Amino acid sequence: MDITIGFSDDYTQLLSPELEKRLETIYNDMKSKTAFGSDYLGWLNWPSSISQELLEEIKTTANHIRSTSDVLIVIGIGGSYLGSKAVIEALSIPFEKNDSLEVIFAGHSVNGSYLKKLLKYIDGKEVTVNVISKSGTTTEPAIAFRFLRQYMENRYGSSAASRIIVTTDQEKGALRSLAIEQGYKRFVVPNDIGGRYSVFTAVGLLPIAAAGFNIIELIAGAKKAEEQFGHFDMHNNPAIQYAVLRKRLHDNGYIIEIMASFEERLKYLQEWWKQLFGESEGKNKKGIFPSSVQYSTDLHSLGQYIQDGQRNLFETFLMVKNIDEDLTILESNNNGDELNYLSGLSLHAFNKVCHEATANAHLDGGVPHITITIDQIDEMHIGHLLYFYMMACAYSAYLLEINPFDQPGVEAYKTNIFKMLKKPVY
Ligand code: PA5
Repeated sequence: MDITIGFSDDYTQLLSPELEKRLETIYNDMKSKTAFGSDYLGWLNWPSSISQELLEEIKTTANHIRSTSDVLIVIGIGGSYLGSKAVIEALSIPFEKNDSLEVIFAGHSVNGSYLKKLLKYIDGKEVTVNVISKSGTTTEPAIAFRFLRQYMENRYGSSAASRIIVTTDQEKGALRSLAIEQGYKRFVVPNDIGGRYSVFTAVGLLPIAAAGFNIIELIAGAKKAEEQFGHFDMHNNPAIQYAVLRKRLHDNGYIIEIMASFEERLKYLQEWWKQLFGESEGKNKKGIFPSSVQYSTDLHSLGQYIQDGQRNLFETFLMVKNIDEDLTILESNNNGDELNYLSGLSLHAFNKVCHEATANAHLDGGVPHITITIDQIDEMHIGHLLYFYMMACAYSAYLLEINPFDQPGVEAYKTNIFKMLKKPVY
C-alpha cells in the first residue's frame, strides 16, 4: 500500500539542509510532545494504540443498531460529522442499496424544513440516534438533538433511552451530564484528540461500522500509514513531501489550494480535507485556503477561473490508480455522435487522459499542480489516506509556525449569536 506524490516542478530543488533540520525539529517536538498544541497529539499513535476492547465494543454496538433499526441518525457538526460522512460516502456504491441500515446525518446545519422532513421520513421506521459532540455544548447539533430526543421520547416512551447513544467528552459538557442523567450509552472522545482528528475514534468508527463497513481494515490502513509516515525523511515520506510543497507554494503567493478529484465518491473526503486543513492552518493571517472541485463537472464551471483568473492558485489532484468497475466505449455502426475515435477506451482511461490534459493546461495558465495517487478505494486505503492527510496537515501548520490543533477563530460568530439571542451568561 502506497501513496505517491507528483509535482509539476522539481521537488528536489526545494530541499535544503535547513529544511531538513526544521523537519527533524518538528518531528522531535511532536514525538516528545513539546510542539505547540501537544495536548492534542493523541491522534499520532492512536491507530497503533486503540484497544481491542474498544473496537469490539464499537462493533457490538454497531451490530445491535443494525439488528434493531432501519435508520441511524448521526447528529454532529465539523469534526463530529465530516469523518464518518466522508468514509461512508467513499465506500458506498452509487445506486446500490447494499445495506439494510440507512445512516442519515443531522445537526450539521440548522434547517427547519430538513428536520421536519426527516422526522416525517423516520415515522414507521425503527430508529437509533447517535449524537456526537466533543465539547457537548455546540449549538447546532444540540438544537437538532432536542427535536430528535423529543421525537424518540414520544415514540418509544421509557425505552427511548436505549436507542440514544452519546459520543462526547469524558469529563465535561452538557451532553455528558444529560447522558448520565438519562442513562444513555456513552462513548468517549479522548481528551487529547480534537474533532477534526477524531475519525479513528468512536466519533467516526461507530457510524462507519453501523453503515456496514469494516472498521478493523480502516484502522489497519491508518496503522500502516502511522508506520510509513512516522519519520522526517523529506526524500521518502509523502506526507512530508506534500507539506513541504504546500509551504513553498504558500511562500510564493499560492494561497489557494484546489483539491481536484474525478471520483464523485470522494466528494465528502474533499469536504473533510477542507475542514482539516482550513481549521488547522488558517490562523495569524497565514495559511492556504482549501477548496475543492469535482471533474469533469467543474471543468465546465470553475475551470475557466482556474485556467485564467487571478494567479494565486495551485491544484492538488487526488487520483485513484485502480477502480473497481468500469465501462469501455464501443465502436458503433452509426458514428453520428463522432465518437468512434474513442472506441476501446475505458472511462477510467479517459479520466487519466483528462487529468494529464487538465493539469498541463492549467500549468500553462500559471497553476502549479501536485498529484496524490492512491491504489484503490476500500477501507484499508481510505484509512491510510486519512492518516496521511492528518500527518501532512500537522507538518504543514508547524512549517508555518502555527498550532494545528486549536480553532480560536470559530468562537467569534458563536459569541455574536449568543449575544444576539441573549444566552444567559452572555
Ligand atoms: O475540529 C474541531 O474541533 C471542530 O470542527 C469541531 O469538531 C466542531 O466545532 C464540533 O465541535 P463539537 O464536537 O465539540 O460539537
